[in-house]
Amino acid sequence: MLSMTLEKITDEKITEPAHGHGTEISLGPVAQIPSGEGRVFPVNGTEVAVFHTRSGHVYAVQAECPHRQGPLADGLVGGTIVLCPFHSRKFDLTNGIGLQGDCNLQTYPVRMDGDGGMWLTVQET
Ligand code: FES
Repeated sequence: MLSMTLEKITDEKITEPAHGHGTEISLGPVAQIPSGEGRVFPVNGTEVAVFHTRSGHVYAVQAECPHRQGPLADGLVGGTIVLCPFHSRKFDLTNGIGLQGDCNLQTYPVRMDGDGGMWLTVQET
């Protein structure tokens, strides 16, 4: 019995727990984002870039680069780092920190359920 329980827990793909208060919005299946790429989702009037890393995790950040509005979802992804396609600034998707030190990204809590569905947490205003 114990081994069955442990197996079930480790099979789940939980990436980021939802923090704080808010509402979870379904973004649909993670399969719509090829591994190692990003896609833009409109959420409550804001565009959010969601990345599906090759390791199978998902991360959500603001869609436009804070430098000069580069489309981050079109950037190259290596590990958890995205490279802006406009001027090659690098950002850590796990925390939004810009590796050049001059600008950072807003991040959003996103998780996957056991069926590969993505859920983004938006703060209630
Ligand atoms: S717009 Fe992203 S680095 Fe310039």
